[in-house]
Amino acid sequence: MELNGEQRRRFGEDGFLVVPGFKSRDEVKALRLRAEAIVDEFDPHTISIFSARDESAKSDDYFLTSGDKVRCFFEEEAFDDAGALRQSKALSINKIGHAMHDLDPVFEHFSHDKRLHDVATAAGLAAPLVYQSMYIFKQPRIGGEVRWHQDATYFETEPVSVTTFWFALEPADISNGCLWVEPGGHRSPLRERFIVDERGGRMELRDDTPWPTQASAQPVEVDEGTLVLFHGLLPHYSGPNRSEKSRHAYTLHAVDAGARYLPGNWLQRGGALPPRGFI
Ligand code: FE2
Repeated sequence: MELNGEQRRRFGEDGFLVVPGFKSRDEVKALRLRAEAIVDEFDPHTISIFSARDESAKSDDYFLTSGDKVRCFFEEEAFDDAGALRQSKALSINKIGHAMHDLDPVFEHFSHDKRLHDVATAAGLAAPLVYQSMYIFKQPRIGGEVRWHQDATYFETEPVSVTTFWFALEPADISNGCLWVEPGGHRSPLRERFIVDERGGRMELRDDTPWPTQASAQPVEVDEGTLVLFHGLLPHYSGPNRSEKSRHAYTLHAVDAGARYLPGNWLQRGGALPPRGFI
């Protein structure tokens, strides 16, 4: 699917682009059913809590070694003080990550095609490589906040190239924790860098430019099937979900093969499972 001139202009100017109806109802349904099956098969004795507000959770080995696997992560608020799940397992998972797009046939089908390749090249990726997939549940009542960040923090390349493909699998609005972005904010510097080395994972401050305020933030309320494409330096966040509705989304992160992928990035994909393009 070629982006038209107006879409390219908007992406360049705003740092993001909303494409309603990019995925069909059937494609969305197939992905949701497969995610449900993965969670159903998941044995929760391998517990890890993913929280973008708590950097120490990211140093968890379960997370750091998940770049070439398919793993389930719990919501931070999934457990009560006694350590029991507050709601069913199916309503307690924060996300599935991070290589379903290469390891699971249903996810692979959703994640690799000529239309996505064309969008990626229109967005400036001459030779896209898809490094990461995440199925994000944003569960009813306990769906966690993801604070302001830039995705280039987690996927640094020289020059910056990471581009996010965010697919709504359910309607997303302010009540169930939709995305918020700062239009034009992709022209701001990279503020933080998540680095992994022999000491583990940690966040480093790169630039003290403040995060956007609510006044300059824009909610991205979308229907299921919508693609939200955004630049790796675009500041974005999503609030907690206190509503009774879930807010499922699926994301892919791609970088340009022509850019240098830094060795300190947490997700390394060499060896038996090198990153592939969209086609
Ligand atoms: Fe993000």
